[in-house]
Amino acid sequence: MAIPYTSQQTYIDDFDAKEYLQAYCADKDGHFSGDWSDFALPILHEIFTTGGVKGDTMLDFGTGPTIYQLLSACEVFDNIIVSDFLEKNRAEFQRWLKKDPDAFDWTHIIKSVCELEGKSSREDCEKKAEKLRSKVKEVLKCDALKRNPYDPVVVPPVDCLLSCLCLEVPCKDIQSFCDVLKNFQDLIKPGGHLLLLSALRETFYHIGTKQFSSLYINEEELEMAFKEAGYQIKKAVYKQRPDNAAMDFTDCQGFYFIHACKPK
Ligand SMILES: C[S@@+](CC[C@H](N)C(=O)[O-])C[C@H]1O[C@@H](n2cnc3c(N)ncnc32)[C@H](O)[C@@H]1O
Repeated sequence: MAIPYTSQQTYIDDFDAKEYLQAYCADKDGHFSGDWSDFALPILHEIFTTGGVKGDTMLDFGTGPTIYQLLSACEVFDNIIVSDFLEKNRAEFQRWLKKDPDAFDWTHIIKSVCELEGKSSREDCEKKAEKLRSKVKEVLKCDALKRNPYDPVVVPPVDCLLSCLCLEVPCKDIQSFCDVLKNFQDLIKPGGHLLLLSALRETFYHIGTKQFSSLYINEEELEMAFKEAGYQIKKAVYKQRPDNAAMDFTDCQGFYFIHACKPK
């Protein structure tokens, strides 16, 4: 049965940053453990090392209340701009930035990323967290459905735009997904990078008892959307989840990573 599209107002009312972090990012029993984390963290480590993606400024679009997606990037970008639609997510991110005692504990994820870098002492993990804090220069509001998602702010084009688990939330169909990718062109320098990581063929996910809709998108539709939006795809990685991995909190069938470039 098709899940009705979650309206922006429902999203604003229902999304709870702390519940999301607890359900998805908690150590050991978070839904990301051994699943999304095992997919995303090594890919992000690779792309910002041997993958050669680097520059001055990276923009993270739809950051949410999470930091995991920035831990490898902070080794190669001096300026990181994070951004999210919801004030409560930006506030939660700021709590981590300001070392608020009420902030989420990311130690286990920081340790995993440090291990990928061949460093895993407590001191290494503390240094990594401090490095990321020092690189985050702005926390902005964004709305994917606006022609300029940062309106009225104009963000100068960046070397790299990253977005994780975001666009399937606001986009209600493939055309709107493609339009967002087209609008991203203005946010990226010529020759710059667009990195998208997200869920494949998913129609819903739960946070506790609340259900949110997600745009169902498959491999073909994704690649078509990037091409139609004017990008050159450099790399596409798809990971299928086994059928028996179907869980009650999502019907997601896999994950994708697309690395594309804006033409020079
Ligand atoms: C599933 S969360 C993902 C958060 C984080 N990037 C992660 O990887 O865990 C989806 C995010 O999309 C954001 N979002 C929802 N509607 C949006 C919109 N219109 N524009 C930009 N972001 C939006 C939400 O605020 C939320 O942070």
